Formats: sequence, structure tokens, C-alpha cells
Amino acid sequence: MTDVPAEEAAPRPVRRRFRPVPPWAGPSTRLVHGGLLPDLNAGSIVPPIYQTSTFRFPAPFSEAASHSDVYLYSRNANPTVEGPEEVIRDLEGGESARLFASGMGAIASTILSLVNPGEEVLALADLYGGTTELLHGLLPRYGVSVAEVSEPDARAPETAVSNATRLVYLETPTNPLLRVHDIARWSRAANSVGAILVVDNTFATPVNQNPLALGADLVVHSGTKYLGGHSDLLAGAVVGPARLVDQIDPKRVLGSPLDPFAAFLLHRSLKTLELRVARHNEAGRTVAEAVEGHPGVVRIHYPGRASSEEEAIASRQMRGRGGVLALSLRGGAEAVDRFLKHLQIVEVGSSLGGVESLASVPVQTSHTHLSAEELDERGIDAGCVRLSLGIEDPADLVRDVTEALDASA
Ligand SMILES: Cc1ncc(COP(=O)(O)O)c(C=O)c1O
Repeated sequence: MTDVPAEEAAPRPVRRRFRPVPPWAGPSTRLVHGGLLPDLNAGSIVPPIYQTSTFRFPAPFSEAASHSDVYLYSRNANPTVEGPEEVIRDLEGGESARLFASGMGAIASTILSLVNPGEEVLALADLYGGTTELLHGLLPRYGVSVAEVSEPDARAPETAVSNATRLVYLETPTNPLLRVHDIARWSRAANSVGAILVVDNTFATPVNQNPLALGADLVVHSGTKYLGGHSDLLAGAVVGPARLVDQIDPKRVLGSPLDPFAAFLLHRSLKTLELRVARHNEAGRTVAEAVEGHPGVVRIHYPGRASSEEEAIASRQMRGRGGVLALSLRGGAEAVDRFLKHLQIVEVGSSLGGVESLASVPVQTSHTHLSAEELDERGIDAGCVRLSLGIEDPADLVRDVTEALDASA
């Protein structure tokens, strides 16, 4: 081994200098090749994991502190985190992206950074339970009011917004009833009162839908779901114009940066996102068709099925419908218990978007904080089971779900 003076050792990575992907490359190519730093060490194809909390200062203290293009401390920036950040930014078609330790980290940091006391957030009633808790449990304590819009008023965004609205928050498709909302129409309504439109794109993924191209100001994700895709990490993302993303907890004082190891797993997972989502789309469609008319099923909740209006919106703004569907079972909670007991492949667990199929019961998991009346208002009943269909053989999933439905009836 030859000793190399410190100043001649391999040059330090400079922030956000990625190996360029040709502008003509398609989404699958960009997913595989995007966000890679030119390797400065051993020539590895897969980037190393910078599992470090801090970095050696490159220059005398007073100069280094003003260096925004070098890594100084991992809560603020870390090369392993910036790789998948770049891939997600590119795929969502945004100018800037930031990753967080979880979806809720991204959502909470975004909302808390962009609203002030005295302002109002307008949000759908039908949202992931954690987001509803943040909106109704936390924001009012800081003087931010939260207005909720449920069906059928959520179909008329122009009358739902008001001059008090500072931020509009949507999920589409929603969790757990897979309702589809018109992003372009909500964007026009939000713009008309000077509000920012934030869309949670977790269920659709950027493979199936790009809210920014439809007029949303910011997109948020639970990267824990399809982006991570293997039920082995927690992550969150926000993507949009730099003028907004730069305002979102710029110094990370809310304390939810993504850990480098989780970022490494996320970057690895993104390479197969398009393949996986194509299979999830197929599984969702196949199982939804197979359970149609089953005597044990009162209602199938799947993007576009609620009405012809939603079908038209879904065809316009989505390239695929995803792998999540919910079933309202005849016989309520008891039928749900029998259904879950008879599943042989689909596991019972609360999450979605992984390669393995999962079943969960919203009234027992993501929506436990809602009262019976609130659940009723939203149309979430005790017989509702949410299925996240994975990438197993679709025929096996059809068999498993239909046999469990036979047993539930
Ligand atoms: C639509 C949606 N958004 C956000 C979240 C929160 O994500 P995380 O669990 O990564 O904090 C979830 C979690 O289930 C979700 O389903």
C-alpha cells in the first residue's frame, strides 16, 4: 500500500453532481441510472453507503461553514440520501426534492413549514389516518384552522376553497376507499384563491400519475410504500419547485432526515419501480375483476369505480390504477375475521405497496382514531378490508382472495 498525502487523496464528492442520464432516456432507464454519483473510490457500479453522521471539514472553519456544495453534517445533506432524492425528483418532474425519515415526516414538515397562525388548511375528509391526526390534532394548537371537505362537496373544489385557504391537501387515490379526485380542477380552484395545492401521490406512484404536471404545487409520498416496495424501510419525500421545497424545514430542525442506510435500500428499490408497479397494476385489475359479483362482497372500492365521473378523471390523469383495492364484505366484522383467517398467501398487516400482498382492516388500523359517526360519514364500515396486492402470480392471488371470500360468506 502506498501512502498518499491527504490533499492528493481521491477528491471529495461535491453535492448533487450526478452522472448525467441522456435527456432522451425513458423512465425505466432513468430509474436504473439516475442519481448516481461519479464513483470516486473503487469504481463500483453501486454507490457506496456514506453511513456517517458528519464529514471532515474541507477548509478552515470560517470558510467551510459557508460552503453549500460540500457535505458537512448528515442531518442536512448526505450523498447516499441525495441519490434517491434525485431519482424521485426526476420521475415526478419537479425542480427539487427532499427525502425524510417517513411519509409523515415529509407531510408534517411540509405543512408545518408552509402555514402560519390564522391561516386555513382545506383537506379531504377521506385521507390516511395519520395525516388526519396531524391536521386535526396538531395544527389547531398552533393557531392554524383546518376545514374538511367530504363527499359530495369534494366534487366541487371551486366552492370548497375560500379566501382564507392557504393550503389545499389531497390524496388521490385516497386511503382506504380509493376515491379519485381531479388534480387539474383542484389546482385551478386553489390558484384562484392563492393557495398551495399539495397532493399525496403514495397510492398512484409517479409511474401511474404525476400531480405536478397536472398543476399541483407539491407532491408528497410515503416512500415506505411502493417507492421502497419491499416492506423493509421507512421513508418520505416532497417534490416541487425549489422556491417551495427550500422553505420546507431547510435546517431540518424538525429532525426527520432519511438515514443513509434506508436511502441506500430506497435507491436500490427504485431501479425496479416501473416493473413492480406494472405488476401491481395487473394484480389490482385482475383481482377486482375476479371478485365482481361475489355474493360475499357488497362493494368493491377501486380507482375509478365509484362513479362515471371518477372513471373519467382516472382515465385522464392516471396511467395505471395501482395494486390497492378495498372490499366491503357482507356480514361486517365477523365476515372480515373469517376472511382474514382463510387467507393463505395474503398476509395480514398494516401497510401497502410491498412485493408481498397484505390485507388490513382500516377500522382496526389506519382509521382507529375516528368515531363511529366519522367512519360512517366517510363510508368506512366494519366490513371493509383493504388489500394491497403484491407481485405474486396474479392467478394465485385471485384463488387466495376468492377462497377466503367463499369462507367469509
Ligand atoms: C397515503 C399515505 N400517506 C402517508 C402515509 C404515512 O407514511 P409513513 O407511514 O411512511 O409515515 C401513509 C401510511 O400508510 C399513507 O398510506
